[in-house]
Amino acid sequence: MVDFETLVFTVMQPLDEIAESGTREREILDRIDPERMPRHVAIIMDGNGRWAQARSLPRVEGHRAGIRAVRETVETAARLGFEVITLYAFSTENWKRPRHEVLTLMGLLKEYIKRELETLRANNLRFRPIGRIDQLDPSVRQALQRAVDGTAECTGTLVQIALNYSGRQELTEMIRAGVRDAVSGSLTPENVDEAWINEHLATAGCPDPDLLIRTSGEQRISNFLLWQVAYAEIYFCPVLWPDFSKADLLMAVLEFQHRERRFGGLVPDGSVFTPAGEPGATS
Ligand code: FPP
Repeated sequence: MVDFETLVFTVMQPLDEIAESGTREREILDRIDPERMPRHVAIIMDGNGRWAQARSLPRVEGHRAGIRAVRETVETAARLGFEVITLYAFSTENWKRPRHEVLTLMGLLKEYIKRELETLRANNLRFRPIGRIDQLDPSVRQALQRAVDGTAECTGTLVQIALNYSGRQELTEMIRAGVRDAVSGSLTPENVDEAWINEHLATAGCPDPDLLIRTSGEQRISNFLLWQVAYAEIYFCPVLWPDFSKADLLMAVLEFQHRERRFGGLVPDGSVFTPAGEPGATS
């Protein structure tokens, strides 16, 4: 029989490297089952503006403070052994914000890459931006490409940053690609199935998120990974993003492990019947 600490070592990093003994984080960590980790965790980082306003600071200071939470969350995700973490950093709707705020967000992103690239690489983390990257400023695109190229050989956690991202736009582009292929004769209706759709989304190659976290108490999906979150457990956390801590992430994982995931069936993987023509259909 494999003891808990040995098991943890094979899946995650040693417990002491994730949370020190005697701390609240460690108390939560000790209740987490390392065998039932979410493979993919997606986060809607919300509440930066309110965090700043509560301190009579300009909104952009909330975004600046949010970088600490990004760093800690990515580090903890890697140590817990998540395969993928996806962070919603900028939606296509965010262009409606004041120019100064948009420019600050883009600047923070470049700064984050400049400062963190070595750490990402040293920790074997692969970086991938998703969204309409082609519409971003060339200096931002260059920074993103540097991070993609610099971590291309990494085999650990995939760190996906959704930038200029919209779930509906992603689905629209997938449909456009399909219509193009159909017109050129390389795609027939029978070829279109869930696997084909998955391969034509920005997240191609990733497992779907098992857990979607949204901070700040708001309870919406906000056009994030619309197709991919079909069966995700959703965890709404009241904490504003700049205050989101390791303990908050661990609590979300613990709550995830307490939920019963049935994927439309009665017991996990207990499917006995599939309607003709719809392999693996669930409700
Ligand atoms: C939502 O808060 C947050 C954002 C629109 C941006 C999130 C960006 C960061 C945390 C920094 C850059 C990210 C990376 C990955 C380096 P809000 O401004 O909508 O808050 P509010 O609802 O309180 O106004």
